[in-house]
Amino acid sequence: MLRQTEPELMLDPAQVEAYALADFSIPHNRFVELLQQRVSAESFCGLALDLGCGPGDIAARFVKAFQHASLHAVDGSLPMLSFAAHHLPADVLGRIEFIHAKLPRISLPCPDYDLIFSNSLLHHLPEPQALWRVIKDYSRPGTQVAVMDLVRPASQMAASELVEHYSADEPAILKHDFYHSLLAAFTLEEIEEQLKQARLNLNIELVSDRHVFISGLVA
Ligand SMILES: C[S@@+](CC[C@H](N)C(=O)[O-])C[C@H]1O[C@@H](n2cnc3c(N)ncnc32)[C@H](O)[C@@H]1O
Repeated sequence: MLRQTEPELMLDPAQVEAYALADFSIPHNRFVELLQQRVSAESFCGLALDLGCGPGDIAARFVKAFQHASLHAVDGSLPMLSFAAHHLPADVLGRIEFIHAKLPRISLPCPDYDLIFSNSLLHHLPEPQALWRVIKDYSRPGTQVAVMDLVRPASQMAASELVEHYSADEPAILKHDFYHSLLAAFTLEEIEEQLKQARLNLNIELVSDRHVFISGLVA
């Protein structure tokens, strides 16, 4: 099945609310667990960057798990950042600097980061090098990278089956977005090609029936 892109930024207030209120605890906890398998939460005291942070659920889980870390979190959608600002607890907000910017043209307060992570951003990008370019621009040798995203299923039928299996009881808008996100996602082979083009030597692994995890150290 060919890729079908979806709108890049999530700007519609109804879409933002449905996404922000959905229960992503299983994939988001899994993301933080996978991160902890690569970076010690006890000893990490560096600066991390979350690209495409949305309403900040993973950012919040990250600062709770990594008690000594600081975090910059970027999104191109003001409604998403506003949701984060109004719904995250004050102690979490105090640990995160939210930045409104759209990849790839961003100007961040720090020249490089110790850890760069991103969940569910890649499939939104019409041009995937936007993500890999920003990771290259804001890393240095030794920066740890962790990117999780959906994998494009083989057919529209397979995408519909995943939507029914994982979000049967969710609001229609969320099911619609999930289906179109699956159609917009990349295959493992496409991601491999993107990394080759970006000259990023990262590991690509399938971590569920719908998620790929891309990780490693910048050389
Ligand atoms: C599916 S959400 C993921 C949010 C969050 N990372 C999570 O896992 O819950 C994708 C987010 O990426 C943002 N986004 C899409 N394209 C972007 C770009 N070029 N620059 C910055 N943010 C972008 C959208 O606005 C949206 O908030």
